Amino acid sequence: MKNQPIGIFDSGVGGLTVAQSVKQVLPGESLVYFGDTAHLPYGDKSAGAIQYYSRKITGFLLDHGAKVILIACNSASASAFDVLKEEFRDRTALIDVIDPVVDYLGTRNYSRVGIIGTKRTIESGSYENKIKVKSPGTEVVSLATPLLVPMIEEGFVFDDISNAIIRSYLSHASFSDIQALILACTHYPIIKNQISKIFDFGIEIIDSGKPVSAILKEYLEANHLLNDSGKSDDRFFVSDYTPYFEKVARMFFDGDINLKKADIWK
Ligand code: DGL
Repeated sequence: MKNQPIGIFDSGVGGLTVAQSVKQVLPGESLVYFGDTAHLPYGDKSAGAIQYYSRKITGFLLDHGAKVILIACNSASASAFDVLKEEFRDRTALIDVIDPVVDYLGTRNYSRVGIIGTKRTIESGSYENKIKVKSPGTEVVSLATPLLVPMIEEGFVFDDISNAIIRSYLSHASFSDIQALILACTHYPIIKNQISKIFDFGIEIIDSGKPVSAILKEYLEANHLLNDSGKSDDRFFVSDYTPYFEKVARMFFDGDINLKKADIWK
């Protein structure tokens, strides 16, 4: 079991930001990644639809030998984590991307933080509710920023168009005195520098990569599941082939990536 891969999924390229952190922290591990590019963006879908996709994907990753499942998507973590835990409790452990970030925030003592994410994540109130419990003294201001995922998936990054969209969202008055901003979407670390620039690099920009990888490492160590074979092999699957996915995957993972289209909806 311990030399089996870690299963990771997202709607598209976003989860690759988490996968990259996982590889930095746990270089000896193998990954099996699923990007549900056929149903992207998840942020505009109903909770029921995201639960349906997430169930199928979790089953697929388990069929490919995953020893643990990382939900590298905030929209799916907000809508489907509880359902998946219940349904797969006898087959696997699941790790989401929201709890580790909320726990990390609990160590920071901020009085006011901003959150940006998809409509699904922001409307779920998941971060606010969990932060209220873990950091009751922290005031939270949230904003749905639905254009950012399609913008990133279309490759509009590091250019004037993306700068204008990011500025338009983040110049919202309620963000003027925040001490930290949570990137509650795993696509957003791709534009982290552009976001940070809006705040003159003066506030902490928190993404899920590090806190999630740390929790995953703790879980693998505690359960004697660290890969000790000396071999690692990463596989990537998408539900619809897009050249952009391949390009971004190559940016994150040097060399040849093993990318296949998988039709799991039949
Ligand atoms: N990267 C995902 C998230 O963290 C999904 C974004 C989307 O597909 O809308 O929410």
